[in-house]
Amino acid sequence: MGSDPHIVLGIESSCDETAVALVTSDRRILAQRIASQEEEHAPYGGVVPEIAARAHAQRLAPMLEAVLGDAGLSLDAVDAIAATAGPGLIGGVMVGLVSGKALAMASGKPLIAVNHLEGHALSPRLADETLGFPYLLLLVSGGHCQILSVEGVGTYRRLATTIDDALGEAFDKTAKILGLGYPGGPKVERLAMEGDPKSVPLPRPLKGSKEPHFSFAGLKSAVLRAHESGDHSDADIAASFQQAAVDCLIDRLEKALGQAGPHPALVVAGGVAANQVIRSALEALASRHQMQFVAPPLQLCTDNAAMIAWAGCERLIQTPDFAGDPLDLKARPRWPLDPDAEAVRGAGVKA
Ligand code: KG4
Ligand code: ZN
Repeated sequence: MGSDPHIVLGIESSCDETAVALVTSDRRILAQRIASQEEEHAPYGGVVPEIAARAHAQRLAPMLEAVLGDAGLSLDAVDAIAATAGPGLIGGVMVGLVSGKALAMASGKPLIAVNHLEGHALSPRLADETLGFPYLLLLVSGGHCQILSVEGVGTYRRLATTIDDALGEAFDKTAKILGLGYPGGPKVERLAMEGDPKSVPLPRPLKGSKEPHFSFAGLKSAVLRAHESGDHSDADIAASFQQAAVDCLIDRLEKALGQAGPHPALVVAGGVAANQVIRSALEALASRHQMQFVAPPLQLCTDNAAMIAWAGCERLIQTPDFAGDPLDLKARPRWPLDPDAEAVRGAGVKA
C-alpha cells in the first residue's frame, strides 16, 4: 500500500447513475464524473434494469479513463479500487464490480467491495471531518428508508426501516400521479413551493406507533385519491404530501432517539437528503436535542462514486494491509448494513 494519504478509485453502478471518482484519505475529491441515465428511463417512469445495465457497460470504460485523465494520474498512483458490490440492480452492480476486478487484476491493486448503503452512510464524514462516531443516520433514498446508529466503519445498528415503500419511491410515485415525470423528488419539491402544505388532509402512516419504522404506501394511495377527486391543485397536493412525509420522518426519528439514547450528531444521507424542506426540519430536530446536524452537499447526497471511493478510504484507514483475492468478491442484490436486524413485516424486498 502507498504512503499516506491513500488514493482510491471508486466505481458506482448500482442504479441509474454511472459514476467514477478519485478520492484521497485526507478528504480531497481529485476528480469525479457522473453520467445520469435519466433520459433512457424517463419514457418508462422508472428505472428499467436491462437498460441500466447496458448503459453502464457502454459508459464505464471511457469514464474510468476520463477520470484518471482529469486528475492527471495513472492507475499506478492509485492505492486501491473500490466498487459498489450491492445492494442494487444486479446487472448494473455486476458491470461495475467486474470492471473493478479487471482493473485490480491488471494493476495488482486491492479491490474493496463496497456496500452502496455504506457509501451513503459514510459520505457525511467525507464532507465533514469533525463528524465522529457514533451518529444517528437517516438514510433516505429511492430504494431505502432506514434509521441507523453508525457506531464505526462496518458497525451499523438498524433501528428502523420501511415496511413498504422507501421515501424516495413515494416522492417518485407522487410525481408520477401528478404527471411531473421522473425522477420525481426534485420536481415535487419545486412544485410544493407554490402550494399550501396544510390544504390537503393526508395520513401520517405509523405516526405514534411503538417501533420507529416507516410506511409510505398509504400516503401514496391518499395522494392518488386526492388527485382523482379533482378538489385540489397539484401544487397543494405536492406541498401537503411533502409536509406529511416530513411529519412522519420527525415523529419516527423522535421515537428512534428515545429508544437508542442520545447521539452527538444527526446525519442525513441518500438522494432524498437533497430536499431542503426535509433538511430544515431535521436541523430543527437536531437543535431541539442539542445534536450536531450534518447533511452532505447535494452532489454527495444522490448516487455518486466519491462516496464509494470514500468508503474504500475508510476501509483502508481501518485495515491498512487490506488484501484479498478480487475474484472472490460477489455481487449482492441484497446486502443489509446490519445483518442482525430483525425482519420487519412487509420489509423483505427493500431492507
Ligand atoms: O440515493 P439516490 O440517488 O439513489 C438511490 O440509491 O435510490 O436517491 C434517489 C432518490 C429518488 O427517489 C429521488 O426522487 C429522490 O432520491 N430525490 C429527492 C430529491 N432529490 C432526489 N426526493 C425529494 N426531494 C428531492 N429534492
Ligand atoms: Zn443510493
